[in-house]
Amino acid sequence: MAADPTFVGLDVGTTGVKALAVSGRGDVVARAEEAYALSTPRPGWAEQDPEDWWRACERALARVGASATAIGLSGQMHGLVVLDGDGRVLRPAILWNDQRTGAECEEIERRVGRERLVALTGNRALTGFTAPKLLWLREHEPETYARVAHVLLPKDFVRLRLTGARASDVADASGTLLFDVAGRRWSDEVLAALELPRAWLPTVHESPAVSGATGAGVPVAAGAGDQAAGALGVGVDRPGPVSVALGTSGVVFAALPRFAADSAARVHAFCHAVPGRWHAMGVMLSAAGSLAWLHDALAAPYDELLAEAAAWPPGAEGVAFAPYLAGERTPHADPEARGAFVGLSLRHDRGALVRAVLEGVAFGLRDSLDLLRELGVEASVGRVSGGGARSELWLRIVASVLGIPLERTVADEGAAYGAALLAGVAGGAFGSVEEAVARCVRVRATVEPDREWQRAYDELYGRFRSLYGALRPLQRA
Ligand code: XUL
Repeated sequence: MAADPTFVGLDVGTTGVKALAVSGRGDVVARAEEAYALSTPRPGWAEQDPEDWWRACERALARVGASATAIGLSGQMHGLVVLDGDGRVLRPAILWNDQRTGAECEEIERRVGRERLVALTGNRALTGFTAPKLLWLREHEPETYARVAHVLLPKDFVRLRLTGARASDVADASGTLLFDVAGRRWSDEVLAALELPRAWLPTVHESPAVSGATGAGVPVAAGAGDQAAGALGVGVDRPGPVSVALGTSGVVFAALPRFAADSAARVHAFCHAVPGRWHAMGVMLSAAGSLAWLHDALAAPYDELLAEAAAWPPGAEGVAFAPYLAGERTPHADPEARGAFVGLSLRHDRGALVRAVLEGVAFGLRDSLDLLRELGVEASVGRVSGGGARSELWLRIVASVLGIPLERTVADEGAAYGAALLAGVAGGAFGSVEEAVARCVRVRATVEPDREWQRAYDELYGRFRSLYGALRPLQRA
């Protein structure tokens, strides 16, 4: 008798790669994680070596992938990987949270026209997106630029090593600013306006399509950028619950039945990993990333820090945190925004600082949720994923700040799980993405808003909203 099928999802994240092996019934049967470093060679820069991703993927796959029926890929979005004609990496990848391209974003909006750019790509030029990084390379590293033959996104570099195919998917390609998001294909008009060759770009598939096969003949699904895959992983394949991801970044994500870009592009409008569907999302650059920063600075275990934070009431007696450690996308689109604690008193201890970070991130998520609501998204419940969602305290704070219940799913691995579901479709176990989600994703618990906290946070939100404007004149050192 044939062995039960196993689908492997790989998530090439910012702090490491996660590999999950999932059965045809949706049960997680094995998991492996491999960490790698991030380098910030200058303030505002964020880079990684693509070969580190590949080595980590090889190790993770060796641990869980031996009997894979199919593999699905997911990963951090927007990162620029440049290769020469022989497929050699030309420089470290420039990541989604890198902020060096302010001037290039202005140049793109000048060349294409902001309105036209939003009409063509659904989005404004934001520093973390891929296209401005190519323009930066052309301006600042012309010798490297002259050798570029191929441009790939992070997980697609792993695909190249795994299968030899140069391919991507519509959800991840949406974050390049070179993609016609409504038409689900590369935008010749944007490429021409930016004088970038079409030949550098990979073939683009719908997310559940087979993009190639490993040397051993295992099919590899096109997959999706981590937010679209993560949404599938918690069952957000259609309008309904919103996906709330507390990873290094923080995201509120709503599936849309049709393409709809906000004319001011205050949220991102991208293709979903479900054929024929789109999504809108607001993205904070430092969510669990803010907590990780404070954890590293205080050098204390997470459990201890979170227990100390739980001892403080909402608002932590007036200390507030602006979560802009890496600049911000939604709602400020400002690469020069910076983090701050305000309202400190002698009574505040490290628990108060942690509480302020948890709350500041929650308020930042509310900024995104409010923008989605202004676009007509009805959000009455959220589904959570990401490392930060492991904290019950943080979920209670986020539920209370957003004013909606947050559901936790049985498999709470977000993007890696979504990638495994896409592998299941590519491998033939499910007829469609919707079927994979319906058969595998189950809610296991709900975190309700605390009514008293919600009242307190509704009042404190106005103060949080005023922080960015008040701090702005102080941003530049
Ligand atoms: C989404 C984004 C981040 C990264 C994090 O637009 O930039 O969520 O994908 O991995």
